[in-house]
Amino acid sequence: MSNRIAGFSKLSKTEKIEWLLNTYFTNIEASRDLIKQYWNTNEKLQKLHDEFIENTITNYYLPLGIAPNFSINDSLYAIPMAIEESSVVAAASKSAKFWLERGGFKTKVISTVKIGQVHFIYNGDYDKLSSFFDSVKSKLIESTNDITKNMERRGGGILGIELRNKTTDIDNYYQLHATFETLDAMGANFINSCLEQFASTLKDEALIYDKFSEEEKSIDIVMSILSNYVPNCLVRAEVSCAIEDLKSKDIPNPEIFASKFKQAVNIAEVEPYRAVTHNKGIMNGIDAVVLATGNDFRAVEAGVHAYAAREGKYSSLTHCTIDDGVFKFWLEIPLALGTVGGLTSLHPLVKFSLEMLKNPTAKELMQIVAVAGLAQNFAAVKSLTTTGIQQGHMKMHLMNILNQFEATSEEKTNLIEHFKTNTVTHSAVVEAIENLRR
Ligand code: MEV
Repeated sequence: MSNRIAGFSKLSKTEKIEWLLNTYFTNIEASRDLIKQYWNTNEKLQKLHDEFIENTITNYYLPLGIAPNFSINDSLYAIPMAIEESSVVAAASKSAKFWLERGGFKTKVISTVKIGQVHFIYNGDYDKLSSFFDSVKSKLIESTNDITKNMERRGGGILGIELRNKTTDIDNYYQLHATFETLDAMGANFINSCLEQFASTLKDEALIYDKFSEEEKSIDIVMSILSNYVPNCLVRAEVSCAIEDLKSKDIPNPEIFASKFKQAVNIAEVEPYRAVTHNKGIMNGIDAVVLATGNDFRAVEAGVHAYAAREGKYSSLTHCTIDDGVFKFWLEIPLALGTVGGLTSLHPLVKFSLEMLKNPTAKELMQIVAVAGLAQNFAAVKSLTTTGIQQGHMKMHLMNILNQFEATSEEKTNLIEHFKTNTVTHSAVVEAIENLRR
């Protein structure tokens, strides 16, 4: 336990770094240089990043790439993607171009309801609790007036509160289950503030409710928190075209392609092992845009996967039909996103990404993000059912291998040319570098 430290967060940034280097590193000079190499020379910008979280020591870069040529409801977009996986942006761009020539992506926001819950324990008669809830419901809402007035002025706010009896799951366990419209905000702070106020009003009102016994009066609040499961904050993205229009350089036989593609989607619908990887491919596109636009990708991930398992079995988020010679492929997912608040006005690159997307409303952003997911899935399943995934992956991975071997620009140009006509494998690249250097 000799590495234990008290009051770490109170140390200065330099003190934190020195403690870290002296405690865990052998090459202290090199590690210190590395940390500092990633500091921004613009001190104001660095301070901004330092203050996003606690105990910041440096910055952790991810590439920000662009996938252009996305036609969404007949408007063109260049989509920003923050991601480390080499083939993702290339795949999105390829998909965008493919569908640009076939009518583009069509999208629709189905609903925008967010959810929050106050979880509490009440030891007593349910009918009495139910009457108490009916009598205080309007007080619960009124007590949040200060929190909700701005949101209400813009057309959002609390949509409803229900009392839910959960005693079949846990003895004496009940919920206030509340629904919200948070417009362009992701809404976490707004919802959590409302819920904490509901909890406090509920507790206070119970204490003075004369039909409750002494035991019933002491409602015990366990916690008040939004839910990241938002099955009624739903967006749909779709592509479709006549089967013969799928014909392209990579798809010489569109009939065979469409039927194999549909089979692959059907497999992901029924087989959870495949569904997880299939959906992971969708999240490659979703997370990259969610991250670039300063949204909470952990919340999105948790909610999307819960949705994928909503029928009791984990399943594909995309679906495909072939009817009357028309190929249709679509995605439906829950997305709680914001284009105001949070990082959106703080992180300069988030502002930049949002401007690139024409400063979308939250609803517009939901549609753009869903498209990125659908495009990514189309590219992955297309590769998987035709050439296999490794051909494209290894081509993109070539640069990573070259960088591992510290290839010069000249060596890179030479080897990229060489691998245009040769299969990329790790050993083939190593051999080619060695040959070149010999
Ligand atoms: C890799 O990041 C994603 C894929 O595995 C997705 C899929 O299998 O559909 C290619």
